Amino acid sequence: MQRQESFSKPFFYDITLRDGNQSLKKPWSLDEKLFIFDKIISLGIKAIELGFPASSQMDFECCQTLANKAPEDVLVSVLARAHKNDIDRAIEAVKTAKKPRIHTFITLSPFHMEYVLMKKPQDVAQIALDAVEYTKKRLIEENMPVNIEFSVEHFGDCRENLDFVIEVLQKIVEKGATTINLPNTVERTRPKVFIDMLKKVKQALPENVIISVHNHNDLGMATATTVEAFFEGALQLECCLNGLGERAGNTDFTQVAVALHNNGIDTGIDLEQIYETSLIISQMSKVKIYEKAPLIGPEALAHRSGIHQDGAIKTKDMNFGAYRPIHPSLIGRYDDEKIGFTSQSGKTAIYDILKALKYPITIQESVNLTPYAKQLAETKGELTTDEILQLYFDKICDIKGTFELISFKPIEKGVFDLFFNFKGERKEVIGKGNGPMDACLNGLKKLGFEVNLSHYKQYSLDGDTKGSGARAMTMISVLDKNNNEIIGRAIDTSTAQANVKAIFNALNQLY
Ligand code: KIV
Ligand code: ZN
Repeated sequence: MQRQESFSKPFFYDITLRDGNQSLKKPWSLDEKLFIFDKIISLGIKAIELGFPASSQMDFECCQTLANKAPEDVLVSVLARAHKNDIDRAIEAVKTAKKPRIHTFITLSPFHMEYVLMKKPQDVAQIALDAVEYTKKRLIEENMPVNIEFSVEHFGDCRENLDFVIEVLQKIVEKGATTINLPNTVERTRPKVFIDMLKKVKQALPENVIISVHNHNDLGMATATTVEAFFEGALQLECCLNGLGERAGNTDFTQVAVALHNNGIDTGIDLEQIYETSLIISQMSKVKIYEKAPLIGPEALAHRSGIHQDGAIKTKDMNFGAYRPIHPSLIGRYDDEKIGFTSQSGKTAIYDILKALKYPITIQESVNLTPYAKQLAETKGELTTDEILQLYFDKICDIKGTFELISFKPIEKGVFDLFFNFKGERKEVIGKGNGPMDACLNGLKKLGFEVNLSHYKQYSLDGDTKGSGARAMTMISVLDKNNNEIIGRAIDTSTAQANVKAIFNALNQLY
């Protein structure tokens, strides 16, 4: 990954409490806003739009309380339409803040001026200029810093009158605006079209004016537009936690922060807090994180195709994953990459799932189990872990065939009576040996069924559980006539029975 040394830190301007809040079915109360405000600050975000004081008494009071509480290194802003009452209300709401800002706006889009404001462009421009001039005057009267953001609402729709917009913005800067925000209020075109417009505005304005973007996500490209805007000189990025906002929402903060990080930018954000914060915001906004939401969606770490599963498992603990953009711990996400078994999956998934369930399995056994799992998944869809486990018990630990164990009982110390069917024919033999396994192998040998054990292992499947319920697994390896290794497994609460069953399991593969 290349480092882009020449770029300054992005200035994240959080709009969760204003643009996000205004889109909620139940806007947040003061207590809720206070809680979220703290979360935003602890993420390391240094600019927060608190609300729209003129919209309601409740929002005014929220803005006032939060402004009062804001730490001195956090800029707090409030929204005001471009008229005196809103501006007065906004100033009243933030005047106790250590770093206050007034954010005023009006549209300059031809469509909006004609059909929504029903005003001529020159008249709208005058309203904008007057609003900024008035804000500056009032801020000075109140002994407040002159920090004014002006937004061209529907900037994205100003393609045909961009020269006019630029002229107005130049005057607006002269009147005192310090940040010029370019909202893509409704996303209708390509990110590139927007970026080209932004570049023209940037070139036309003095260097010290901060260019900001505020992209809505109607076509799902808000993150792309915002990230590219940063690389074209927009320093202020207006983002919302969980991409909340009107319609399809605003630009998602997480996506932008992580994308910039992945492109070598120091975001100044405590990325590790992102995941937990997103879960909290989802709960508090009652807006679910959709399954496939990038980075934070429940499915964002799921792999179902065999090829992806193989790559994901091989690179699981690496920082750079084969099929994920970041190591999830970067954003404080600690659930494992999910490996789901479907008809598209393969042996690596079976192996990984059973291993995660703490059931021993070899790669060869997963290869053997895969066709059964695929066949089941073709009709059922994704298999549950219980279904996979059941297949493991049936097809790996209890292989049926020409041998069928009926009973294996001790007669006296070191002597056992073995009953079984071979190709449907009843067989009985007395086996003697050094323990049950040896006795069983000797008994079988007497009848001409030789089993050459090359490996033997016992597992306790239920951890430290003691007593009659605890299950033991026996795994044996035997060599067939071509010297191929065959594994016989079996599970039983009696170790002796597990041993004998494992031998029969192997026999059914040998014969
Ligand atoms: O989407 C928008 O245009 C806005 C402005 C008020 C900045 O939210
Ligand atoms: Zn907006």
